[in-house]
Amino acid sequence: MREMIMVLDFGGQYNQLIARRVRDEGVYAEVYSYSIGVDKIKELAPKGIIFTGGPNSVYLEESPHIDKAIFDLGIPIMGICYGTQLIAYTLGGKVETAPVSEYGKTDVKVDTSDVLFNGVNAVTTTWMSHTDYVSQIPEGFRITGSTEVCPVAAMSDVSRRIYAVQFHPEVQHCREGNKMLHNFVYDVCGCTGDWKMTTFVEDTIKAVREKVGDGKVLCALSGGVDSSVAATLLAKAVGKQLTCVFVDHGLLRKNEGDEVEAIFGPKGQYDLNFVRVNAHEEFYEQLKGVEDPEAKRKIIGEQFIRVFEREAKKIGKVDYLVQGTIYPDVIESGLGKSATIKSHHNVGGLPDYVDFKEIIEPLRYLFKDEVRRAGLELGLPEYLVYRQPFPGPGLGVRIVGEVTADKVRIVQDADHIFRAEIAEAGLDRSISQYYAALTNLRSVGVMGDFRTYDYAVALRAVITDDFMTAEAANIPFEVLQRVMTRIVNEVKGVNRVFYDLTSKPPGTIELE
Ligand code: XMP
Repeated sequence: MREMIMVLDFGGQYNQLIARRVRDEGVYAEVYSYSIGVDKIKELAPKGIIFTGGPNSVYLEESPHIDKAIFDLGIPIMGICYGTQLIAYTLGGKVETAPVSEYGKTDVKVDTSDVLFNGVNAVTTTWMSHTDYVSQIPEGFRITGSTEVCPVAAMSDVSRRIYAVQFHPEVQHCREGNKMLHNFVYDVCGCTGDWKMTTFVEDTIKAVREKVGDGKVLCALSGGVDSSVAATLLAKAVGKQLTCVFVDHGLLRKNEGDEVEAIFGPKGQYDLNFVRVNAHEEFYEQLKGVEDPEAKRKIIGEQFIRVFEREAKKIGKVDYLVQGTIYPDVIESGLGKSATIKSHHNVGGLPDYVDFKEIIEPLRYLFKDEVRRAGLELGLPEYLVYRQPFPGPGLGVRIVGEVTADKVRIVQDADHIFRAEIAEAGLDRSISQYYAALTNLRSVGVMGDFRTYDYAVALRAVITDDFMTAEAANIPFEVLQRVMTRIVNEVKGVNRVFYDLTSKPPGTIELE
């Protein structure tokens, strides 16, 4: 049986991150609700259990607690933040409001003879976020770490193999956190490290195959990273039982529809049913005369559902619908309650419209870079795997005002030039997201001896980690100039090019 570390979720914001860090160490980890129960834990037989942090105070009745019997299972346990306080509280120690709360980077003095801190600096920078603290450790424990204001920053009971830290080893700012997690899973739990992305891919294919049996599976393929990786996994698992429907709404980047078809279509490398719907005309028809951004988004979303539904009906009843939901799409409802799904940008509301038994979300617990690694493992080309985010409504939100076929042509061609020049300048991996958009502005220019009255293209390029805030990229002026020259020369209907300098906030990354 594969080794597994069970991460018990007490409502902390970093619980999936803990699982992910353990996976990074080569050991499979999965998040479970704190209320899972001792019997189920025995059945799953994890090699170790990690209690996550959480926003509550253990001494309040309504806070999540744990059956004391968990400590008698003989399975090593590691507590983090709330998890540590819970261990102390449940085993007879004392937890109180700390006289001084600690937030952010904090130096902790650790006992490097403790197995958890083996190879860690005696004073190590951690990440704290707590208002309560352990004021008295339970019997059998000893203090293995402290800060100036927190007497019990770490404690352990070696005989029962229980280790606990007040700080968050899973966050990046905790400099040696990975080492501590490594020590726990290898030296305390005795894991051998049998997990790799290959294992995930193989296991998922096997599990999907068992689940689906001889059922029919339907997938809405957008050509983005997540749906492509999900579709490929399914294709490898159930082959021709899978039908991928790719709705080309005519609002994709230049050549993108053909690229998707080249990979997943009949001439591609996978054995599946591929349906490409060229729905340009009907999308443009619906968008005729519509200028309001929200109205455009709504129309595109609804039209997408209509087209998809029509194609799904042709296929007949399916048993499963595949969605490329990944962890960041999953909004935690906290406290280990089952997570709810954000309506997927690209297929908003779809499940209500298509008749199927169940949704399969093979990437639900992966972070974006893990999805990319799975994609490479599955043999998807790098250009697809490292594709930038692209909004579901596509160029519909990169054309300010009314969308027409001609405006789509302009923005596709301008964008194509911008992309080529950015790649040529070697900047394509260092800029988080970049594209050309079409402003609704027409202005006077001169070309040859003639007056022009044409559109202005806006170039947008941003640097961001999380896409919540962003800065305009510092693109060398000569590159911008070359892009401008090529666009006004090569793209008919454009006589002006702007570079958008706006940060987010106040701007957004997309223009609409
Ligand atoms: P904004 O424009 O809100 O965009 O700063 C933040 C990130 O989200 C992407 N985005 C979307 N992605 N469907 C998507 O799948 C959408 O409707 C959508 N709108 C924006 C945007 O490209 C950027 O990466």
